[in-house]
Amino acid sequence: MKRVVFEHPGPAAEVLRIQEDVPAPQPARGEVLVRMLASPINPSDLMYIGGKYGITPKLPATPGFEGVGIVEASGGGILGWLRKGKRVAVINDRVGNWAEYTVTKARQVVPVPDELSDEQAATFFVNPATALVMTKAVLGLQPGDWLLQSAAGGELGKMIIRLGKVAGFRTLNVVRRCEQVEELKKLGADVVIVESDGPLPEQVKTVAPAGVRFAIDPVGGKTGSEVIASLGYGGRCLLYGSLTDEPLSIHPRFLLSNNVRVEGFWLASWAKQQGIRTMLKLFRQVRAMMREGVLQSTFAATYPLEEVRKAVEHAATPGKGGKVLLRIGTR
Ligand SMILES: NC(=O)c1ccc[n+]([C@@H]2O[C@H](COP(=O)([O-])OP(=O)(O)OC[C@H]3O[C@@H](n4cnc5c(N)ncnc54)[C@H](OP(=O)(O)O)[C@@H]3O)[C@@H](O)[C@H]2O)c1
Repeated sequence: MKRVVFEHPGPAAEVLRIQEDVPAPQPARGEVLVRMLASPINPSDLMYIGGKYGITPKLPATPGFEGVGIVEASGGGILGWLRKGKRVAVINDRVGNWAEYTVTKARQVVPVPDELSDEQAATFFVNPATALVMTKAVLGLQPGDWLLQSAAGGELGKMIIRLGKVAGFRTLNVVRRCEQVEELKKLGADVVIVESDGPLPEQVKTVAPAGVRFAIDPVGGKTGSEVIASLGYGGRCLLYGSLTDEPLSIHPRFLLSNNVRVEGFWLASWAKQQGIRTMLKLFRQVRAMMREGVLQSTFAATYPLEEVRKAVEHAATPGKGGKVLLRIGTR
């Protein structure tokens, strides 16, 4: 089979290469062998390849944390046997999905409904589950609450805007390109502000004079620091990414005098602490909300596996306007 590999961490467009004629991996007991159909290029994949992620690659490594494929074989166990022949969303933190065949734990493949396209099924887990878990399970947003979010024009940000419309919380959205203001308003954003229009705490005060109670930030650096500084008394901010790769700068006095909480959120860690029932309920909710369009992704382009370098370059381009997808096989 063919797979993408990197032998040392670095910029994805430089270090990735295609390896041909390698044997397909063998599933161990409790695992399944999946023939991959498609896999998105997420910011986490690029960070992993760059050696800047919470999981250290065992080199040489194949990237790709999510995707869609067909279960070809089981390494043993009831769940694997039940999944055989099914089209499934593939969550993979071990071998990597950017390959014609991969193996993962049977409990990390989720059957997807026929009406969901391969593209949507390939983006079934990482962003939809994060959007739901952060807003519902962790922050517990109630109708009428304000949520401030940066990088609001990204795929996850847009899901959160649509979730707000369904769940009743209001979104105050920060973007870096003014072209996105109208696009996000059409999606249902309550307020959209542009980073370059002035310090965020001042812009936020025009909407919520006492500051907001809830915020989420995947940007870090100056933007992330200003998101935290926009919180009001008792405010809570989840940090869930590091897109600028820059540290935060926040005065401790602001945190303590405002009784503000700043926490990290990582879906992989959250999921490890949950029981099977919670995870099955989450998969059901994602499936239903994908069907309704709330948790769907938009796509900027699709590339064959062989053009992975072009694909990762596209995925890292500012303003790309949707997910970049690797098409690996056909049904
Ligand atoms: N913690 C978790 O468990 C978890 C789970 C899922 C996702 N995430 C994180 O969530 C973030 C968004 O993911 P996604 O799939 O929505 O990505 P995406 O579709 O590529 O969108 C990224 C968004 O961030 C903006 N952006 C990128 N670099 C920026 C910078 N330096 N300053 C300000 N804005 C910047 C982009 O703006 P333009 O449109 O102008 O390019 C775009 O709107 C990523 O950091 C990802 O790692 C975390």
